[in-house]
Amino acid sequence: MAIAQKIRDFMEKGSFIRKMFEEGDILKAKHGKENVFDFSLGNPNLDPPEEVHRRLIQILSEPVPALHGYMSNAGYLETRRAVADFLSGEHGLSFTEQEVIMTCGAAGALNAVLKALMEPGEELIVLAPYFVEYLFYVDNAQGVPRVVPTGPNFSLDVKAIEQALTPRTKAVLINSPNNPTGKVYDETSIRQLGDLLHRYEREQGRVIYLISDEPYRKIVYDQIQVPSIFQACRQSISVTSYSKDLSLPGERIGYLAVHPQIPDKEELLAACTFTNRILGFVNAPALMQRLLPAVQGLTVDIGIYQRKRDIFYKGLTQIGYQLTKPEGAFYLFPQSPIPDDVAFIQALQEELILAVPGMGFGAPGYFRIAYCAPDATIEKSLPGFERAFKKFAN
Ligand SMILES: Cc1ncc(COP(=O)(O)O)c(C=O)c1O
Repeated sequence: MAIAQKIRDFMEKGSFIRKMFEEGDILKAKHGKENVFDFSLGNPNLDPPEEVHRRLIQILSEPVPALHGYMSNAGYLETRRAVADFLSGEHGLSFTEQEVIMTCGAAGALNAVLKALMEPGEELIVLAPYFVEYLFYVDNAQGVPRVVPTGPNFSLDVKAIEQALTPRTKAVLINSPNNPTGKVYDETSIRQLGDLLHRYEREQGRVIYLISDEPYRKIVYDQIQVPSIFQACRQSISVTSYSKDLSLPGERIGYLAVHPQIPDKEELLAACTFTNRILGFVNAPALMQRLLPAVQGLTVDIGIYQRKRDIFYKGLTQIGYQLTKPEGAFYLFPQSPIPDDVAFIQALQEELILAVPGMGFGAPGYFRIAYCAPDATIEKSLPGFERAFKKFAN
């Protein structure tokens, strides 16, 4: 067999969402697309704000020389400046374009950071439940994931993280608002995590970086604020994108930003610019970079996602499902009524409902619902959720 065994194993491990997708296609062909309730993918269903298309048309109708050319691998200066200005306002710290590198989404940013940081065999702390791609990204960088569970209601368990630190730990990766749980880590726990990493550096003379994956940062509900990792930790790096909050996932545009006082700053940024290039991304897409200065801070209507969360949360809790109310992102992560989450997902499929088993996120006994779907789909799916639940009641 020509394909590397490792990749075959990874494909098997990472196939949960894809399997749902494929089985969903079969169900849609059989029963009609409108009769299948597809909550399998985190693909935003809202259109980008009108301003996005208006600006793109303007950029294309007044083309500057080398509109589509290569640029410095870190990205256009004016784009990085616009992002830095936005970050300065958001975090109350002074960022400059120097601390920002434009990337192909949060995924591209995370891969560039990990490749720049990890020595072969070094460990990345990953919190469960996790976005499954993390396991593969850390392997891309020849590192090893060290999975640490979260606490009650998927909160940050700083004690558990402390216990998992070893001389080989290179970084701690967090994701808030979280996929798959919708959890937003509170300010106290983020501060405690920052304190832990600062203390570790003082006592051990070695930096452990805090990497925060934040593509859902602007998708939060009930006036919740996502605490600033930059305020809490000097050795912090944020990776993010416009995939979710501007509904531009196919355009592959995002960035990484480092704390203005991060240790080894110049070398780290030079390394990330280099890894962004040699991973084959080269640079972030030119047209999208040209758009960004005009749309900083703009988002789709987050109230629409909040309404979907409320309909779903209310409907599922009334049926009897146990779940933590999500504070952000567009996912629900209820407990499966039976320990075997894969069997429960099959029961949902019999009701033409597509969701993803928790074991795909390192959390068996749960399942994920992506509610970036029309309100009517959510409402019409509830009787099916009820029938599947009742099948296993008592
Ligand atoms: C937690 C998390 N991180 C990163 C990504 C990748 O996002 P992007 O499209 O910005 O690469 C996703 C996409 O679903 C995600 O859910």
